[in-house]
Amino acid sequence: MDIKFEKGNVFEHISKEEFESLQGKIEACSYALREKTCKGKDFLGWLNLPENIKAEEVISIKNSAERFIDESEVVVVIGIGGSYLGARAVIEALSHNFSCIQSQKARKHPLILYAGQNLSEDYLNDLLEILDKKDYSIVVISKSGTTTEPAIAFRILKQHIEDKYGKDIAKRRIIAITDKARGSLKKLAMNSGYETFVIPDDIGGRFSVLTPVGLLPIAIAGFDVSELIEGAREMSKAIKNDLSIENNIAFSYAAIRYLLFKKGKVIEMLVNYIPSLHFFTEWWKQLYGESEGKQGKGIFPAGADLTTDLHSMGQLMQDGVRNIFETILWVEKPKKELLIPEDKANFDELNYIAGKRISEVNEKAMLGTEQAHKSGGLPVIRISIPELNERNIGSLIYFFEYACAISGLLLDVNPFDQPGVEEYKKNMFKLLGK
Ligand code: PA5
Repeated sequence: MDIKFEKGNVFEHISKEEFESLQGKIEACSYALREKTCKGKDFLGWLNLPENIKAEEVISIKNSAERFIDESEVVVVIGIGGSYLGARAVIEALSHNFSCIQSQKARKHPLILYAGQNLSEDYLNDLLEILDKKDYSIVVISKSGTTTEPAIAFRILKQHIEDKYGKDIAKRRIIAITDKARGSLKKLAMNSGYETFVIPDDIGGRFSVLTPVGLLPIAIAGFDVSELIEGAREMSKAIKNDLSIENNIAFSYAAIRYLLFKKGKVIEMLVNYIPSLHFFTEWWKQLYGESEGKQGKGIFPAGADLTTDLHSMGQLMQDGVRNIFETILWVEKPKKELLIPEDKANFDELNYIAGKRISEVNEKAMLGTEQAHKSGGLPVIRISIPELNERNIGSLIYFFEYACAISGLLLDVNPFDQPGVEEYKKNMFKLLGK
């Protein structure tokens, strides 16, 4: 397993004894997870998913993906929250940075576009304008089948695709991923004859990226879902085999977060140094925010894309209220090489780094920033992977999921529910006169 977890300067902020004394409590949380005796015990299907996922299901996902790849220039993935972020995190991490303007031939796979993750009229109108001119298909994802944002987007796109191709062809261009028996999307899919995939009852949205919710869109985008699952399986094995808080990286991360939170570090900033990880951070924010933020508890998960945000958030991180800790998500090797050229005139005075790779400069920026933030009083942790590929991302996903469950249990909350999300819906429905 290739993920490195470095505790950085955290022992300047918490003591080694405090850390080690959590061994028993963390083992108890992990035991309660495995024995299914913890809070939220009915939503633990993700725990052994990497080992339990059936080969036939993966084959059927790949077959459906192939069908969509052959027929579509664009595939619109409709979903929100846990029915959206995992797929987008993986797809954006692995895709060409400018895949949206690459030719179909260069991309070799459909362009994935997203809908149902907002209620912007302009967004949907602009999307329809694009879809008028493209061959497209739809993957609609909603576990409950009743979430307003994706339901509205699907109603609009369903009409559009039926008008474009006729009902018979349109129904082959729609796949629904939803609950196995309940919910209006299930009824609609059965009634309309769409192909469907099931979101297991015991897996909540934000833990569902390794179910068809994430796997189908990822496969359509051309990425190897078997490798993704394999990476998660390797991480699962590593986490379950060594229960020492020192060696088990999910235990270490959960323990450090918990202790820093107790010392008033109530904001965690996950920072990356490559833009393709932006949506991985969004997925992580949802995972931790929705799992921990309840009963007046929970670290506020924030994200920053560096070095970009060093020119906006950098000042605050360096010198603002010291209630933040930083977790660096570092990728050691880029996919392609680019050197800084020599320039005779040297007006920009960059010749001192001519001949160096951009990634070398990026690494020095990361090291310099890490040092500066440590001196500025921030606890800084670093998590590194050698390169961005399916296997490493699969490992990262499982690592963050497991550590998140332990973190929630350490705070004595149910990491698998989200009662607070209902509040805005109640008000919105009232205002809409539902
Ligand atoms: O993590 C969660 O459970 C939520 O973010 C849900 O995924 C989100 O609200 C969408 O729900 P649904 O899939 O039922 O449409």
